[in-house]
Amino acid sequence: MIESAKHAASLHFLKHGPVRVEGTFRIVDIDGNELEVAEAGKVYLCTCGKSNTKPFCDCSHQEELKLRATN
Ligand code: FES
Repeated sequence: MIESAKHAASLHFLKHGPVRVEGTFRIVDIDGNELEVAEAGKVYLCTCGKSNTKPFCDCSHQEELKLRATN
């Protein structure tokens, strides 16, 4: 286990889903604007490209997983 006290933030890659970022961080868009996060200290970033709220996960990846499961 990695000692988390040394780090300001940690990234957790979730299987078939987003990356959960926890800790003290800020997110800045391509224009340099800081994005607000819904829950201080925790955010889920989309890795599938399907989210309508990029860069945040909106659970659209779950629809893709359902489609894969039925095909
Ligand atoms: S990872 Fe959840 S919508 Fe992309």
